[in-house]
Amino acid sequence: MQAKNQKIVVLGTGGTIAGVSASANEGLAYKAAQRGIDDLLDAVLGHQQHWPEALLDCQFESEQVAQLDSKDMDFETWIHLAQRCEHWLSHSDVAGLVITHGTDTLEETAYFLSQVLSAAKPVVLTCAMRPANFKDADGPQNLRDALLVAATTQGLGVYMVAAGEIHHSQYVQKVHPTRLNAFDSGETGLAGRVHNDRVQWLDTFNTPNTSAKLRVSQLPPATQWPWVEIVMNHVNASTQHIDALVQAGVKGLVVAGTGNGSVSTKLMASLVLAQKAGVEVRLATRCNQGVVVPTENHIFDATGGLSPVKTRVALLLDMMSQLQSH
Ligand code: SIN
Repeated sequence: MQAKNQKIVVLGTGGTIAGVSASANEGLAYKAAQRGIDDLLDAVLGHQQHWPEALLDCQFESEQVAQLDSKDMDFETWIHLAQRCEHWLSHSDVAGLVITHGTDTLEETAYFLSQVLSAAKPVVLTCAMRPANFKDADGPQNLRDALLVAATTQGLGVYMVAAGEIHHSQYVQKVHPTRLNAFDSGETGLAGRVHNDRVQWLDTFNTPNTSAKLRVSQLPPATQWPWVEIVMNHVNASTQHIDALVQAGVKGLVVAGTGNGSVSTKLMASLVLAQKAGVEVRLATRCNQGVVVPTENHIFDATGGLSPVKTRVALLLDMMSQLQSH
C-alpha cells in the first residue's frame, strides 16, 4: 500500500464506461463517450465510508484527456495521452495512473503506452462493456478495481483491469464482442485478480521485459507516423490490395498469417515484391491464441510474439526509432 497522501491520477478517454443509452435496460445500443471522467470517478468515490482500505490512503485527481469511442482512436490522441501520462508520472506524489478507455482498441493503446512510458509506476487501463446508465453497469466496479490495482506497488508497468481480472498489456486481447468478461490473455494467463477489494497477483505470472522503444518526447507528430497496414491470409486471398497499397506508398505491412504464420503462395509472392520495393513486412498469426514460433521457413520477421494489431504498433515504433537514429 502507498504512503498516505500518495496520489492516483485518473485520465478519461471515453468508451462505453462513459457511455449512455436511451434507458437503463438498454445495454447494447448506446453512445460511447458521453460522461466526463469527474462523474465516473464521483460514482465510485462518492461515499468514502464504502472505500476499500487501500484507497483511504490516497488522494485522487482526474483529467479528461479525450472523449471518444475507441474505434476512432488515433495517433494524435495517443501522443497526447502519452504526454499526459508522462507529465503525471513525473510528479513524485503520484503513485500511479488509471486510464478509462473503450474496450474496442484498449489492447492497442495499452501496448503502445507500455512501449513509450517508463515502467517505474503502475499505469492501469480500465473499461466497461455496459454503458454508465445501464441498470447493472460494470464500469464503477472496474474503475474501483483499477484504482485499487494502481494503489498497490507490485504491478509496475501497463496493465488493464476488467471483470475482476488483471491482464498485462503485452498479452491482453478483446476476445468477445458482448460478454462482460470480454478480455483474455491466452495461454500466458492473468497477471492477477481483484476479489472483493483485494488485489491478488498471481505468483505464476512473469512480467515481460519490455523496455521503452521510443520515449514520449521522441514521438514525431502524428502526421509523420509511417503508414502501416494489416493484411490477412485466408482462403483464396487476393493480392490486388497489396499491390495497390505499395503503389499508394505504404511503408509497412503486418501479415496475419494462418496457423504458425503460413501465407498462400500468391500472397507471399506479392509480399516479397512489396518487401523488395522497400516495404517492411512483419508476420503474426490470425489465431487468437498463441504466437508465431519462428522457423527457417519464415521469410518475414516473426520474432515479436505479438498479435497482429500489437505487431503493427511495434513496427510503427521500430520504424520511427530507426528514423530517429538516422
Ligand atoms: C469503445 O471502444 O469506445 C466502445 C466500446 C466499448 O467501450 O466497449
